[in-house]
Amino acid sequence: MRIASVSDIHLDYKVNRDLFVKMVAEIAARRPDAVLVVGDVCHIDALIAVSIRMLAREVEHVAYVPGNHDLWVDRPWGELLGDPEFDTWKRHDELLKTMVESEGGHYLPSQPLCLGDVAIAGSCGWYDYSFLRPELRDQIPESSLDDQIIDGMQWGDRTRTVFRDAAGSLMSSPEVARRMENVLDAQLASLERDPTVERVVCATHHQQYERTVRRTGTLPWEFFNAFMGSSRMGELIDKHPKVEHVIYGHTHSLGDYRIGKCRVFGTPLGYPHERNGLPEEDILRTRIGWIEI
Ligand SMILES: [Fe+2]
Repeated sequence: MRIASVSDIHLDYKVNRDLFVKMVAEIAARRPDAVLVVGDVCHIDALIAVSIRMLAREVEHVAYVPGNHDLWVDRPWGELLGDPEFDTWKRHDELLKTMVESEGGHYLPSQPLCLGDVAIAGSCGWYDYSFLRPELRDQIPESSLDDQIIDGMQWGDRTRTVFRDAAGSLMSSPEVARRMENVLDAQLASLERDPTVERVVCATHHQQYERTVRRTGTLPWEFFNAFMGSSRMGELIDKHPKVEHVIYGHTHSLGDYRIGKCRVFGTPLGYPHERNGLPEEDILRTRIGWIEI
């Protein structure tokens, strides 16, 4: 079985939209059984829909997990917070699922996709600050982490998402991470028990393993690493022996690692300025992930 993956295609950039057309053609030419979209298509619904539609025309199975950008909405933060009806979980659990399914895609946070003896499981995942260096953890107040702000620079999720608990109160980022991890853990556990499933591919937008986190040793980068993912996600994946391939997105750094029993990799397209004039053929070669399983 051949599985392709893309992440962080950020289609709000025209250059990326043009590249994505070529990526779809490249994927179609190699005839994979499935293609995974590992989050951060865009915060614009029409562009998420079109990305799924374009892939679904070429590949039989298109599986998607949202990225943090896909969960964003373009409304003032005060308005979101003050509107008790607004809850990012609704976008995550219902709106994106309906949209992706109506375009012929499979919404992995709702349920894994089983293709013969291979299953694909996935989650957006979130962050719990576990990738913040311990020495910084001691220096940075919890309020700065909760507000996601350092030296006047703020992480985008803080003002574009409002995850609410059952009582309607704003959930902390670690609470959001726990909820997403627990759903994924339950899905992986059910695949472990399923005798028809032999191998599992696990895709999460946020990062699962410390080793994949890009380190600069300088601020503000190391502060923002707090929002890259959670090590607990990796620990949960490690508990499930059938998982052999793990895909991450979110960071715009490419990587391909062997961690324990798993191949762990990410092939983000990222923002145009991050590619530094990389030739198109190199983009098409390095920004699509391939699994032969
Ligand atoms: Fe992201």
